[in-house]
Amino acid sequence: MPSHISPEKNLKKIYEIIKKIEKLKEEKNALILAHNYQNTDIQKIADFKGDSLELAIKATKTDADLIVFCGVDFMAETVSILNPDKKVVVPCKEAKCPMALQLTPEMVKTAKKSGYPFIAYVNTHAEVKAEADVCCTSANADKIAKRIAKDGICYMGPDANLAAFASKGVKVIPIPKHGYCYVHKMFQVEDVVIAKKNYPDAEVIVHPECDVEVQNMADFVGSTSQMLEYVKKSDSKMFIVGTEIGLIERMRIETDKKIVPLRKSVCIEMKLNTIDGVLRALSMEENIVKVDEEIAKRAKKAIKKMFDVMSIVV
Ligand code: 13P
Ligand code: SF4
Repeated sequence: MPSHISPEKNLKKIYEIIKKIEKLKEEKNALILAHNYQNTDIQKIADFKGDSLELAIKATKTDADLIVFCGVDFMAETVSILNPDKKVVVPCKEAKCPMALQLTPEMVKTAKKSGYPFIAYVNTHAEVKAEADVCCTSANADKIAKRIAKDGICYMGPDANLAAFASKGVKVIPIPKHGYCYVHKMFQVEDVVIAKKNYPDAEVIVHPECDVEVQNMADFVGSTSQMLEYVKKSDSKMFIVGTEIGLIERMRIETDKKIVPLRKSVCIEMKLNTIDGVLRALSMEENIVKVDEEIAKRAKKAIKKMFDVMSIVV
């Protein structure tokens, strides 16, 4: 907040923006979807919050004419691919996941020459999904790998830590070898050692994009929504959480548990979205997300295959 604006004035401004958003949403039959890493203002005005998988499923079940998607580029692309007849807009066009750039369509094509299937993490662009056999998210990477592997072998990219997480009884070869998310790379083994010493009664839960050594020290590893669910259902009163700060804020709002970040780690790209941006996207219907028809058709096959393998009816 600029220093010349008092907290009261700022609150009033936010309240006015929220009122405008509510009115426009009604008038335009619009739906606001927000990823768990969005800031709390956006989470408050969202019709639905969730992880990548939940948001993709939700997008197939709406009769809204306009979808305002608050997250990063690959998520909005997935929503657009699944809803070719709906208008999908984003608050900020620059909100792009840097990890998604680490895997190219050529890398997928080259790997597939070996004859083994390729699983594209949903954190990829449509052109990459179009070359893959199936998609996965952090909520189902291990299950998809188990069901899709040929002779116990498959490829997965771009996140090498997710590939390691999914290697349960099957060999999941990461492409590229060391693909990573900079937000989750921040968490170190030493952070877990210190946190466990400071909070011996807490459970440690982390995202599968964390380094394998960090995953191995955790009580639970799962997608953002799976972590939230775990906290809500567990009898424990305290949790050390290794993921982006937006989910930690959501956990604090929605549970009465003590939530300690393993380390404060922020996804700068996710935070480019603001409620001003949501209002602009909603009123001007600007920043439209549209994927080339031919690519979208092929990418949709890989996304649909994920739903089929998981027996998700969309
Ligand atoms: P989830 O699907 O678990 O929400 O993860 C998305 C993501 O970008 C994690 O960095
Ligand atoms: Fe991409 Fe990591 Fe940000 Fe998720 S947290 S959107 S993987 S950079």
